[in-house]
Amino acid sequence: MNELRSENSINESTERAVKTEMLAPRFYRTDYAAFEKLDIEPVRAEWDTMMREFERDINREHFRKEMNPDLSNLEANPDLHEEFLDLLVSSITAEYSGCVLYKDIEKNIKNPDIAAVMKYMARDESRHAGFINKALKQLGVAVDLGFLKREKAYTFFKPKYIYYATYLSEKIGYARYITIFRHLQKHPEKCFHPIFNWFEEWCNDEFRHGEALALIMRADPKLLRGYNKLWIRFFLLAVYSTMYIRDHSRPGLYEAFGMDPTEYDYKVFDITTEISRQVFPLTLDTDNPRFRQGLEQLLEANLSIAKAKEQGGLGNLFRRGALTVKVGLIFIRLYLLPTKNNEIPDQVGMVPAW
Ligand SMILES: [Fe+2]
Ligand SMILES: [Fe+2]
Repeated sequence: MNELRSENSINESTERAVKTEMLAPRFYRTDYAAFEKLDIEPVRAEWDTMMREFERDINREHFRKEMNPDLSNLEANPDLHEEFLDLLVSSITAEYSGCVLYKDIEKNIKNPDIAAVMKYMARDESRHAGFINKALKQLGVAVDLGFLKREKAYTFFKPKYIYYATYLSEKIGYARYITIFRHLQKHPEKCFHPIFNWFEEWCNDEFRHGEALALIMRADPKLLRGYNKLWIRFFLLAVYSTMYIRDHSRPGLYEAFGMDPTEYDYKVFDITTEISRQVFPLTLDTDNPRFRQGLEQLLEANLSIAKAKEQGGLGNLFRRGALTVKVGLIFIRLYLLPTKNNEIPDQVGMVPAW
């Protein structure tokens, strides 16, 4: 790859990461005073066990190992190359967003329990982001993380939204990585890039991060009762539906894995739902045919919006407006579907079993 192309590409992928789009990962700010006040005494024993795991840092060497990709597959298939890049850029944005948020919380509080866990989680996310950047660098398109941190728009989220949303994104991240890893273990010929070989240990980091958020919520049970259940329901649906739409926008990637994106997504939902029963008082019924139909309608409406945007023009602008209203209505219908009640168990701590 010549120098000029490589320079342009660096800017493009950084630009892609900086852009704020509806479904792209965001960067967050929050009310740090609420984190200062968190009291984890009600879950002290489990907390201390978890902290010892973080201290052990078993994945310290894992992300230092060299990756030596054979890029011929990607070079021969430009569509796959494009979708793989899209996956890496959106993943690095999500990893780095976690890193920045956890670091910001740590810097802004004195609460020793919370500061310590945030420091460990920022350490892990920084490694993950750095590792993805290594892969991007080998493709000649590294993201400028300093620029991303400075230029990315930040969204303010109340602390409780941070607990629900980051808990879910950590656990769904675990479910996504482990499902891909297990699939490629069975079909090694489909592993078109070595980064997927890192996923097993990697997803255990994400699993632990989810445990920390689960304990924070369990220490304050009112977060999991009353009208907060409406928020939990909202975040479950938002996270699941965003993932569904995003994964279906990368058909080439799943074809290369030899996976059906719908099957993959429902497997990830099943794992995430099962895990989230450790802390959430309700789960979504993702097997309900109306749920499945609603997700398909959401996907179609989003594809139509993207098409109208691409075509441009005044007519398409109105069309996009109408489609956005339609997306809202489908989302509300999905939100109002019956959920399943869950009795939260006494102990939060769990070992990954997938
Ligand atoms: Fe991560
Ligand atoms: Fe994480």
